[in-house]
Amino acid sequence: MAILKVAHLGHPVLRQGAEPVPPEAIASPQIQQLIDDMLETMVDEDGAGLAAPQVHVAKRIVIYGVESNPRYPDAEAVPLTVLINPTVTPVGDEQAEDWEGCLSVPDLRGKVSRFVRVDVTAWGRDGRQLRFRADDFHARVVQHECDHLDGVVYLDRMRSMETLSFLPEFQRYVLAK
Ligand code: NI
Repeated sequence: MAILKVAHLGHPVLRQGAEPVPPEAIASPQIQQLIDDMLETMVDEDGAGLAAPQVHVAKRIVIYGVESNPRYPDAEAVPLTVLINPTVTPVGDEQAEDWEGCLSVPDLRGKVSRFVRVDVTAWGRDGRQLRFRADDFHARVVQHECDHLDGVVYLDRMRSMETLSFLPEFQRYVLAK
């Protein structure tokens, strides 16, 4: 296991888009090691999720999970999940705005509009097909992480930059309210 270096905005790997993982490669030691290292990195960084391009690997792999996370004190719990080659399909057109941050965009928060409900298909790390529906915060995390696979960051999804805040100001003027 290893803690990987997180790419920050401006690094081309965050913008280039990621390649699918051939299903027969999922069981390989390289991919399994990458997933283990991503999990260790996410925990070390106190992140809610991490996409492979954020650790300089242009492959379509995301992980996420929230128990009680100091970065997201009000967030509902989301099960620890590994998605390989995910597809995300909105269910209905209802959207909601809420705060997001990103390990690749350090020390900032901004309000982002996301679909409230999405259907997800992917491969799991055990090579089995996953299919599930995600709502609310879980749906938000899935959309945020899967965007990274297409070279999109949450700033691109903000309807306005008006809410963009540095973390200390976010904590002082938003969380403390
Ligand atoms: Ni992110």
